[in-house]
Amino acid sequence: YKAEIDASDTEKGTYDHFMLKEIDEQPFVIRKIIQEYQDEQDNIKVDGNIRAAMLDADRIYIIAAGTSYNAGLVGKQVIENIAGTPVEVHIASEFSYNMPLLSKKPLFIFISQSGETADSRAVLVKTKSLGHPSITVTNVPGSTLSREADYTLHLYAGPEIAVASTKAYTAQIAVLTILAVDTATEKGIKLNFDPLQELGIVASVMESLTDQKERFAKLAKEFFTGMRNAFFIGRSTDYFVVQEASLKLKEISYIQAEGFAGGELKHGTIALIEDGTPVIAISTQENVNYSIRGNVQEVSARGANTCVVSMEGLEQESDNIVLPRVHPLLTPLVSVVPMQLLAYYAALHRDCDVDKPRNLAKSVTVE
Ligand code: G6P
Repeated sequence: YKAEIDASDTEKGTYDHFMLKEIDEQPFVIRKIIQEYQDEQDNIKVDGNIRAAMLDADRIYIIAAGTSYNAGLVGKQVIENIAGTPVEVHIASEFSYNMPLLSKKPLFIFISQSGETADSRAVLVKTKSLGHPSITVTNVPGSTLSREADYTLHLYAGPEIAVASTKAYTAQIAVLTILAVDTATEKGIKLNFDPLQELGIVASVMESLTDQKERFAKLAKEFFTGMRNAFFIGRSTDYFVVQEASLKLKEISYIQAEGFAGGELKHGTIALIEDGTPVIAISTQENVNYSIRGNVQEVSARGANTCVVSMEGLEQESDNIVLPRVHPLLTPLVSVVPMQLLAYYAALHRDCDVDKPRNLAKSVTVE
């Protein structure tokens, strides 16, 4: 694999916004990660100390904020499924005040693009004082969280400048996948798929999606013009992605957006559906395809303007976007791309300051 564009570039080049450039860089970042975490025999290589810490842990506690938290939700599923170690994911600012009971051998994984988030650092200071081991997964190796944790896993995503995080999210999921596979291999767990090859497929699919910008620009216009709110629904793995999808849309377009578990709709949210309310559903998982489509029908019957993003093999004729097939555990890496592009174009159509949304900072260094 060879990265053709340089994700370490800090200039916008021909792009109007850093966000769009960073969305486009994602396939190259995935290929870069494959390259960086691969040895000469094409096996996954992870630092020996990190490997030992992973093997020693009886439970992993992921601590993060914002988009990194959303990546952690996917990371939990990936680590539990591939490596068989139980994982909890915590919002950094909540963990400090409401610490869960810890297992006998906890391992803390801090996910932070910037490595500077004060809420996460507060947790690190605390868990360090309790003597627990820690790994920081970050895009900035010299950052505070990277220096203060025992070990660092690098994202290799290149500088992320837009406030709304895109390539860091997919890089975080890819690196956590590699970490999970490494642990599984050490534990003697046999996988029925080739993870690096599957990540390679992900990179190609990402490219096929970023090549369709006009289509997403049109969809964004169709669904979000004049709208004050929007809902994203998904089940299982897709539920994690709709949370990130709604965060992207709200932070840059200021449309009130929420991501819900499909099954929870009838317990409250469905009351908010009016004529024309946009509801975006993601369906990439075979075991929930039927039920999420039931939810789409429920909201559609109440007037919602529905947009369905599905995956090859699960698609129906009326679906708005059908993603090429990738490994079921890795679908967030590709289903998030249309969500990022929809958010980008929605913000653009509303004349928002895409790269620097109001009231937000790229890294939040106060608790
Ligand atoms: C801020 C940014 C978000 C980011 C979050 C966590 O709120 O605006 O885009 O996801 O911080 O940042 P981190 O650097 O710790 O991943």
